This record gives sequence, structure tokens and C-alpha cells, in this order.
Amino acid sequence: MRAAWPVLVSGLVRPACQVELAALAALAALAALAALTALLTVTGCAEAPHGPLAGASDAWETAHDGEAPKPRATAAPVWEVYSEVQQWPAINPAPFTSRGHQPEQSVDIRVNEAARASYTGLVTDTVFPEGSVLAELPRGMGHGYAMRKAGGVWSYFELDAQGRLLASGTPLALCAACHSEAPADHVFGSPRSP
Ligand code: HEC
Repeated sequence: MRAAWPVLVSGLVRPACQVELAALAALAALAALAALTALLTVTGCAEAPHGPLAGASDAWETAHDGEAPKPRATAAPVWEVYSEVQQWPAINPAPFTSRGHQPEQSVDIRVNEAARASYTGLVTDTVFPEGSVLAELPRGMGHGYAMRKAGGVWSYFELDAQGRLLASGTPLALCAACHSEAPADHVFGSPRSP
């Protein structure tokens, strides 16, 4: 029985014919694919999606804490606004030694536009606006610390030196316990005289 099928095939179709048939089948498949692609392109054009404005990032508003890492990430994911945060000017004129977090390290504080006036003019009844982001980033190696206010509540983020998320939470208990002792709205403020 082993030889029955080849015999049957070769009995019906000559080998040269088989090659021609295979080529024809391939051509037909290609044509079908092209037609499908054309159809999809037309459909796609009909309902062109309206994305966000170029340059207007809303990643940190829509992202959720504890979200599963992006598929292409191999290690812990980089905090989604990390590259943006690094562009914000430092609040402090020169790096200072952080005493709030262990081990002590030389840091800069960077805050977004929404938080700038509140942070630089911090007084005891300061309440930070919605969307405030505060980050204390190490000079060189060390850990970064960040806070973001959404829905009136602070989320806390601990980062490695490359901005990868080591921990985050709303709140992150360890951070929140100490920051609830801070002078204004869970915020300490940078030292006035470094
Ligand atoms: C034992 C107290 C303590 C703990 C715990 C703590 N912080 Fe802080 N944090 C401070 C102090 C004090 C400052 C003021 C600047 C400094 O000395 O680092 C500060 C500053 C900050 C700032 C800059 C904004 C501000 O308040 O002026 C951020 C952001 C921050 N911490 C995030 C965190 C995160 C995230 C955690 C948890 C992973 C955390 N902190 C844990 C005491 C603490």
C-alpha cells in the first residue's frame, strides 16, 4: 500500500504537469492575497482612525499600575514617562544629598509643569493639582523615586538607575507611611539651602 498514492498521482498527472499545477496554485494564492490586501486597504481608508495629536502624550494618564509588562520587555519595564521626566529641568540649582531614602545618594528633583509652581512655592497648605508628577532621580547609579497624582491620590514608583520599575503602588505602603508625615500633601520639598 506504501506506493499506492504516488502511483495514483503519477498515473493521473505527469511530473512536469505537477510543477505547472503547483506554480498555478501559488499564483492563485498570491492573487487572492493581493485582492484581500486591496480590500483591507480600502476599508482601512474609509474609517481612518483619529489618533491623539502628535506630541501630546497621555501615556501616564491611561496606564495602570501593576499592568502586565509590554510583550517586548525582557526585564522589568521602564516607567512609561521616564524619558519625559528626564527632560524636565531640575528644581534644585545643584544636586543635593537625599536623606529621606536609604542609602543616601546625590539627587535631582524634576517635576512636571502641572506641579512646578506648587513644588517651588511649597507651604503647609499646598495641595498639588491633578496630574502632578514629582521625581527624585539619582546622579549616576542608585534608585529613583517618583510620585504621580491621579484622582486626588498619589501613586508611588521606585525605579532603578535606568528608570525600570522596581515597585509601584497606589499607595505603596512603605513610601506612603513616611510621606504622610511630610509638611504638605505628602510632599517634603527639596532643601531650601543645599
Ligand atoms: C523614611 C521616610 C521616607 C520614605 C520611606 C520614603 N521617602 Fe520619599 N522622601 C522623603 C524625604 C525626607 C524627602 C525629601 C528629599 C530627600 O531628602 O530625599 C523625600 C522626597 C521624595 C520625593 C520628591 C518629592 C518630595 O516629597 O519632595 C519623591 C518623589 C519621593 N520621595 C518618593 C518616594 C517613594 C516612591 C518612596 C517609596 C519607594 C519614598 N519616597 C519613601 C522621605 C521618605
